[in-house]
Amino acid sequence: MAEKRRVILTGANRGLGKRTAEILLEKYAPGFVYIFTQRSKDHAELQNHLHNINKTAEFEIRDLEVADKKSRDAFIQWYKQKYHTVDVIFNNAGVYDKNLDTGARPTKGVSEFTLGVNFICK
Ligand SMILES: NC(=O)c1ccc[n+]([C@@H]2O[C@H](COP(=O)([O-])OP(=O)(O)OC[C@H]3O[C@@H](n4cnc5c(N)ncnc54)[C@H](OP(=O)(O)O)[C@@H]3O)[C@@H](O)[C@H]2O)c1
Repeated sequence: MAEKRRVILTGANRGLGKRTAEILLEKYAPGFVYIFTQRSKDHAELQNHLHNINKTAEFEIRDLEVADKKSRDAFIQWYKQKYHTVDVIFNNAGVYDKNLDTGARPTKGVSEFTLGVNFICK
């Protein structure tokens, strides 16, 4: 039997991430397994919401705080043991400095943090 395609989507509990998760399950094809992450440890609401969209789709929800190395390491360790490889990553959850909305220049610390989390996984 062919290997399943493994897809990770971060920040699946609201906004664009949630809508993306909904679409993935609405258009679900067998042979895919989705790993949705959210930083809140209470997964019940998202679990029920997504299950109601597609009751047979294979997916699970895991904790992941993308700005916290311990959380990232725990997720990666769990993931590698269970799934080994990944086919697609939706790197949706990102940190954002709201001061940018005011046109203020980001400080060096904020720039490093934002680039580190969103692009380098530092
Ligand atoms: N919407 C736009 O017009 C737009 C434009 C350019 C870029 N983006 C980027 O696209 C992404 C999604 O946008 P959106 O509008 O859907 O944002 P949103 O409504 O604010 O949702 C962000 C999602 O990311 C999660 N998240 C935020 N920080 C996190 C962290 N440190 N660790 C784990 N999860 C975290 C949030 O979880 P919680 O519920 O726990 O906060 C939420 O699920 C963001 O990275 C945003 O910066 C959006």
